[in-house]
Amino acid sequence: MNLKITCIPGDGIGPEIIAEAKKVLDTVADKYGHTIQYTDILMGGASIDAYGVPLTDEAIETARAADAVLMGSIGGDTTTSPWYKLPPNLRPEAGLLAIRKALNLFANLRPAVLYSELRGACPLKEEISAAGFDMLIMRELTGGLYFGERKTVEENGVRKAVDTLVYDENEIRRIAVKGFDIAMKRRKKVTSVDKANVLDSSRLWRSVVEQVAKDYPEVALEHMLVDNCAMQLVKDPAQFDVILTENMFGDILSDEASMVTGSIGMLASASLNDTKFGLYEPSHGSAPDIAGRDIANPIATVLSAAMMLRYSFDLDREADAVEEAVRQVLKDGYRTGDIMSEGCTRTGCRQMGDLLAERIKQQ
Ligand code: IPM
Ligand code: MG
Repeated sequence: MNLKITCIPGDGIGPEIIAEAKKVLDTVADKYGHTIQYTDILMGGASIDAYGVPLTDEAIETARAADAVLMGSIGGDTTTSPWYKLPPNLRPEAGLLAIRKALNLFANLRPAVLYSELRGACPLKEEISAAGFDMLIMRELTGGLYFGERKTVEENGVRKAVDTLVYDENEIRRIAVKGFDIAMKRRKKVTSVDKANVLDSSRLWRSVVEQVAKDYPEVALEHMLVDNCAMQLVKDPAQFDVILTENMFGDILSDEASMVTGSIGMLASASLNDTKFGLYEPSHGSAPDIAGRDIANPIATVLSAAMMLRYSFDLDREADAVEEAVRQVLKDGYRTGDIMSEGCTRTGCRQMGDLLAERIKQQ
């Protein structure tokens, strides 16, 4: 198979972790007889520096022409970087929001898994972490508060800011269908998270999710208010299988879920449209403080590449090989600084990529 992949190395540690993901992908391609055609585009701060905007139309078209997009991370230090002196629509994050919207990437899948080898890194009490957990946050990504009309005005000398939270039932239905479809391949439980005790958009959300659930009689559906969900994630994370939720709640809860794994450097994500096309990126940010020092953890990006093989290319065997290599390297005691623990061998970013590629060759 010939895989056409657009890469967005981005900012901070982005270029380093993308280089390691490419190394792993090339090894997989070699072993299983595929070819890969990469095209790089700029986004975020790198694009601002080159073109004055966080994403150009040409970059969007290049991404659209590929089968899938693999992204590192974008953005810089929000207090010191000159990018954050620009108007909000020209800052790095605007590029990410724009590409999600332009490519209609409405479904964001964020798995949060407690690896048994990394259980010690889980910040929860041992009686909670002992149960382990394996959840997937299905976050709506192109609607709601992040895409509603917004403005800042001054009325009678008082500044006032307005953000608008809008969902129509079709936007809710299509993400709910994705959530239930994926639950069917997992443990068949959906927790739909909303704030239906206050918000109209949440009441509509709840009613559409209930309609969709009728087509999935095998899936157990429960509703949970977002504030309670934030609490349950630290109290009893093992209860969750698929968490289905709107854009802002998903943004916040997915950071919380990744933190309780204790290893945000390990968590992958996929943003999909209604075809096989997707944008794959680690859940963590650009970590400008450690950029260029060969100490970043490339595993989240490598696992995002595995999700790409699985969801965009239907290459399950190849995706399994990558995931197995990650487990193997952890079992063999190799750790980047962020997940280091006593008795393990510390590796840099490049060496971690080499070890993963080696394990794939040896399998
Ligand atoms: C994320 C990030 C983005 C978001 C930012 C950078 C716009 O926090 O992917 O979770 O809020 O979606
Ligand atoms: Mg976020």
